Amino acid sequence: MEDNYHKKNIIWHSQTITREERELFHGHKSLMVWFTGLSGSGKSTIANALQNELFKKGINVYVLDGDNLRHGLNSNLQFSPEDRKENIRRTAEVGKLLADAGIVVLSALISPFTQDRDLARSILGEEHFVEVYMKCPLEECEKRDPKGLYKKARKGEIPLFTGIDQDYEEPADAEIVLDTSQLSIEECTAILLADLEKRLSLTQNKKEEGL
Ligand code: ADX
Repeated sequence: MEDNYHKKNIIWHSQTITREERELFHGHKSLMVWFTGLSGSGKSTIANALQNELFKKGINVYVLDGDNLRHGLNSNLQFSPEDRKENIRRTAEVGKLLADAGIVVLSALISPFTQDRDLARSILGEEHFVEVYMKCPLEECEKRDPKGLYKKARKGEIPLFTGIDQDYEEPADAEIVLDTSQLSIEECTAILLADLEKRLSLTQNKKEEGL
């Protein structure tokens, strides 16, 4: 198929219900919170703990977990830089649809490369994207090794393992950085809740805009 076929022959059809109407319906704004960090840094744990708290507050929230997506939507992808990029692109596109439908989306993917995380940000749009860096030294993640994968990777049984034989590029511009080697699950969740309360509020932003 020629490169610009999509631009020429597939025409965007706008929906009659706007995002703003959906946000009013749900009573909160929607966005994607993108957790990034080494395997074992606490992405899935904190995303799930945060989901519980948001859910209790009546917020429509959903977790997209990298491991789980790799059982379905992304099951044909491996861990080469190209496949990781595609993994992230697809997850961001799904997140965009869910956020467009009014849902607060929490994603937990290693997403080791800056340019892929930036791609996700550009797919969602700056105002709908919150990057959370789960900062934790490799030694600590390796000590935790909740799935036993670091041990296998050290033995050479898992190629391209992040932090061992493939890079993790630390985010320079994440909206939130959580040092999970120092903070408890409860502390991380509380920090995120306080931040999101403002971002999700329909009224707070209006106040700031002087409305
Ligand atoms: S990403 O880099 O493409 O964002 P993703 O978060 O979807 O990765 O998947 C990472 C998960 O796959 C890890 O939590 C781990 O359980 C598993 N895994 C299997 N092989 C690897 C590997 N080579 N590198 C990192 N994680 C791996």
